[in-house]
Amino acid sequence: MRLPMQDYCQWRSLGILSVGVLLLCFGHLCQAQEMTIGRSLVAGCFTCHGDGGHSQDKTIPSLAGWKESALFERLMAYQRSNQSAEIMVQLAKGYSESQLRAIAHSVQSLKP
Ligand code: HEC
Repeated sequence: MRLPMQDYCQWRSLGILSVGVLLLCFGHLCQAQEMTIGRSLVAGCFTCHGDGGHSQDKTIPSLAGWKESALFERLMAYQRSNQSAEIMVQLAKGYSESQLRAIAHSVQSLKP
């Protein structure tokens, strides 16, 4: 004979399991979305920094080859800077912190 309590426990653990699976799916969705957003934001950088992040202009450094964390810090430094005459400072201030994070993440996957 099964106790009603046992049934309850079984259903409850199933419930916890499905919540877990749902959260996992959302996590992946967010990650995928962030990557797509990052990629489309980085497309705007290519205008100056060259196609695929390979600059043809000696005065503009290439983006390809940057490590994610280093680039994110560099972009945040631009954003915090008060040297508003600099182009990158102006640009960085136009993005949110999470957008800069997505940009840095996406740049890391460019072929050097
Ligand atoms: C309007 C042109 C322009 C656009 C668009 C642009 N940049 Fe720049 N960027 C520059 C120039 C010019 C420099 C070099 C002079 C300077 O540091 O301000 C530079 C410098 C940088 C540097 C510093 C590199 C180093 O060696 O220190 C980083 C990092 C950078 N840009 C990232 C980006 C990212 C990421 C984007 C897209 C979100 C972007 N830039 C869009 C013009 C641009």
